[in-house]
Amino acid sequence: MSAVSFDPNTLGPEFYENPYPTYAALRELDPVHRCPDGTYFLTRYADLDHIYRDRNSFSSDKKSVFAPKFGVGSPLYEHHTTSLVFNDPPYHTRVRRHIVGALTPHVLQAMEPQVVALVDGLLDRIEERQRFDLIEDFAAAIPIEVIGNLLRVPHQDREPLRGWSLAILGALEPAISEQQRAAGDQAVREFTDYLRILVQDRRSHPLENDLLSRLVEEPDLSLTELLHNCVFLLNAGHETTTNLIGNGLSLLLAHPQALHRLRETPGLIGSAVEECLRCESPNQLGNRLVIRPFEIRGVVFEPGTYLTLCIGAANRDPEEFPRPDVFDIGRRPNRHLAFAAGGHACAGMSVARLEAQVAIPRIIRRFPGMRLTGAAVRGGRARFRGYRSLPAVIA
Ligand code: HEM
Repeated sequence: MSAVSFDPNTLGPEFYENPYPTYAALRELDPVHRCPDGTYFLTRYADLDHIYRDRNSFSSDKKSVFAPKFGVGSPLYEHHTTSLVFNDPPYHTRVRRHIVGALTPHVLQAMEPQVVALVDGLLDRIEERQRFDLIEDFAAAIPIEVIGNLLRVPHQDREPLRGWSLAILGALEPAISEQQRAAGDQAVREFTDYLRILVQDRRSHPLENDLLSRLVEEPDLSLTELLHNCVFLLNAGHETTTNLIGNGLSLLLAHPQALHRLRETPGLIGSAVEECLRCESPNQLGNRLVIRPFEIRGVVFEPGTYLTLCIGAANRDPEEFPRPDVFDIGRRPNRHLAFAAGGHACAGMSVARLEAQVAIPRIIRRFPGMRLTGAAVRGGRARFRGYRSLPAVIA
C-alpha cells in the first residue's frame, strides 16, 4: 500500500507483521495523511508531541466517535465513554487525581519485592519445563498479577481478567467485526458484574493500602464511574505491559550484541526498557478530536475532525531520534511518546517500567541460553502491538 492510498481500516497481513516501512513512507511523504473516511493519520514526532499537549484544540472525548461504532447505551459505549482516558476536564481531572494519588512512590516501592517474587516463581516453573511460551508463561502472567494485586482481586478470581481485557480493548481497533463488538459488550457486562460484587465487599470490609478501598470511599465517584474506571485500570495495565515485556525480550533475542551488553552491564536496564518502548511501542495508535480550528503543515483541521496519532511512527522519526531504526539500549536522550504526553500521559508508567525492569533482567540472567524455537505469532492488532505466542526453550 503506498503512502497516498494508506487506509487504516483495510490493513493487510504484511502491515501487522512490520508496519514500519509504511509508517516511514507516510512520515516522509504524507505526514498529515487524509484517510478515505475523512479522518487524518499523523506520523511526525513534533506534531504528535504538540497535539498531545494542546488540550485547548484537541479533545479526548470520544462520545461522537463511539456512538456509531458501539451504539449509544451499549456496554462498550458506556464503558469507553466513562473511562477517564476518553474524557476531558473536569471529569478527567477528578478521576485522574484519585488514580495518580494512589500510585505514590511509596506504593511502588512496596510493589517491587512482590514483582520480584512473582517473576522468580514464574522462572522456577519455566525451569522445570524447559520449553515454554514467553508470552503465555511469562510476559502475560506478570501484569495480570500486578494489577490484580493493586486492586486486591482475589487470586482465584483472576483467570477471566485477561480475556475480558483483550475483548474490551480489541473493540478499539480501527475496524471491528460484529462478532468482536458482541464479545466486547459481553466482556464489559461480565467484568462490571464481577466488580460490583468486589466493590460491595470492599465497602463492608475495607483493606489497608488498597487502591479499590480508597476509590470506593471517594464521594465524588458514582458507582458507574467507579466500576468503569476500575475496568479501565485493569485493562490499561494488562496488554500494554505484556507487550512491553514480550516485545522487549523478542528485540533482545534478535539483537545478541545488545543482549550481551545488557547482561554485562545490568545498569543499562533503565535505558534498555525505554528503547524497547520506543522501538516496538506497545500502544501504537492514539486519537484526538479537533475542537478548535488548527493548522498543521498547511492542512487546516476544522472542529469535529478525528485524528489518529501514530505513536509507532513518531517514535522512529529521524528528526527526533538519530538512526531511528537501530535498537540502541544505551540511547540517550530518548524522549519517546510510548506513554503519550501532556494531561493524559499514562498514569501507570511507573508500574509498567517497574515490571519490565524486574522481569527482563531476571529472565536473561537466569537463562543465558534461552532462545526462540518456533514460529512467533503476532497479536494481529494495529493499535496494540505485541505477540500472542513466542515459543522458547531455556537452553
Ligand atoms: C508499557 C505499558 C503501558 C503503555 C505503553 C501505556 C500507554 C498509555 C498511553 C499511550 C496512554 C495515553 C492514552 C491517550 O491519552 O490517548 C495511557 C493512559 C493511561 N494508562 Fe497506560 N500504558 C501502559 C501501562 C499502564 C499501566 C501498568 C497502568 C496502570 C497501572 C496504566 C494506566 C493508565 C491510565 C489510568 C491512563 C489514563 C490516563 C489519563 O487519561 O489521564 N497504563 N497509557
